[in-house]
Amino acid sequence: MKRFEQLYYLSWDHRSALMEAFNVSKYVDEFDNLQTLEKRNSIINFYEKDLLLHFRAEEEILLPRMTLNSEVNIELIRKTLDDHILIHSLIILLKKETNDFQKLKSILKEFATNLTAHIRFEERELFEHAQSILNNNDFNEIQKEITERYGDKYLSPSCDLPEELA
Ligand SMILES: [Fe+2]
Ligand SMILES: [Fe+2]
Repeated sequence: MKRFEQLYYLSWDHRSALMEAFNVSKYVDEFDNLQTLEKRNSIINFYEKDLLLHFRAEEEILLPRMTLNSEVNIELIRKTLDDHILIHSLIILLKKETNDFQKLKSILKEFATNLTAHIRFEERELFEHAQSILNNNDFNEIQKEITERYGDKYLSPSCDLPEELA
């Protein structure tokens, strides 16, 4: 199913999160200690500046509207929240670890694997389900609230829905 325009901001976030995760999975084994520490810091920064905003928008704007619908598949809502909590917990581990570089690498890899799987789940199952149960009015409200939170984050006219998520 084609992604509804009202969910584009969330799908654009998914594209940049997939890139972050890909760059960890592909290169982390080759990193020296300094590069590992820098990647740890940049992932924590990405989480605090982008991912938290994204998770909160899903948890506070999208999921509650889905749960108000009698057709909701509640297992998909639960899995979304479970995934978020797992990702939060990996960030806590990342923040704690500054000396053991092998351990840092394995936490980074686990973060990347789980984030990638989570995004694919949302695009393939959660968002598809949202599009099948919510009505146009719900989606317009969702878009309005997300836009208020995101400000000018995606105002560039060159922002198109990435093909792999379409
Ligand atoms: Fe999510
Ligand atoms: Fe998401």
